[in-house]
Amino acid sequence: MNSLDTRQTLENKRVLITGAGGGLGRSHAVLMAKRGADIIVQDVNSERAAETAQQVLATGRQANVLVSDIVDLDTFCSGLSEIGQIDILVNNAGVGGLGRKIEEITAEIFDEMFNVHVRGSFFATQAILPQMKARNAGKIINTSSIFAMGGHYEASHYAAAKSAISGFTKSWAREFAPWNITVNAVAPGFVETEMTRASTPPDKIAALESTMPLGRLCKPQDISHTVAWLASSDTDMVTGQVISPNAGQVIVGY
Ligand SMILES: NC(=O)c1ccc[n+]([C@@H]2O[C@H](COP(=O)([O-])OP(=O)(O)OC[C@H]3O[C@@H](n4cnc5c(N)ncnc54)[C@H](O)[C@@H]3O)[C@@H](O)[C@H]2O)c1
Repeated sequence: MNSLDTRQTLENKRVLITGAGGGLGRSHAVLMAKRGADIIVQDVNSERAAETAQQVLATGRQANVLVSDIVDLDTFCSGLSEIGQIDILVNNAGVGGLGRKIEEITAEIFDEMFNVHVRGSFFATQAILPQMKARNAGKIINTSSIFAMGGHYEASHYAAAKSAISGFTKSWAREFAPWNITVNAVAPGFVETEMTRASTPPDKIAALESTMPLGRLCKPQDISHTVAWLASSDTDMVTGQVISPNAGQVIVGY
């Protein structure tokens, strides 16, 4: 790291990332570890969480694993009690919703969508906030979506849940500012991960990619660079913002 990069460092910060067992969460974990952070890898899937932890350890930083369903607050909180200080919280855990018209969205599917994204982010934040307030410092990065910005014709439950995340971001930015806690959200455009591969066949992904103004779709690390920036001192005066790395996708629609 050269001297110009010193503010981007996350040296000795402790970062909890929910849903860090794969996709974007794993990418965030590895990049932030490379920038000097120790990572608490939270995920419902213990094997995937352990794999991410291995990748963090390979960077030379520490990794803790917290296996819980983010909706199960008791298990999450009891895991937290053994973790100690958290400087940065990345609310990332999520489930996909692409490809469902309103008629196909049952009460069960609807509840899962809102439970994981909305309830999960809300109560994870509520659980970690007291220690951030006590230190008068903290950074919270939520995960919204490009679909919260423009909606989607086959994922209204997902777009609505992600819009709620934008609402949390702006509200918490105001509410937590007196404690020097910043709250921002990343709103990714389409990124090929397990989630999106489950709903979008390769030919559709290729067709979408061909429409990107910047010539390609975002990769996980493109989103992680924004998240790591929002976690760094570079953004100490940035709060309440929803930032969308999307390869220009928001310009052309999707
Ligand atoms: N991939 C995209 O195009 C895209 C675009 C915009 C926003 N997002 C958002 O980014 C986040 C990460 O998505 P991804 O593409 O990496 O998905 P992914 O499916 O690859 O990874 C999601 C991770 O979250 C975990 N998870 C799911 N439910 C959980 C729960 N209840 N408790 C704890 N962990 C849980 C999974 O086990 C998995 O490891 C999600 O919030 C998603 O909505 C993704």
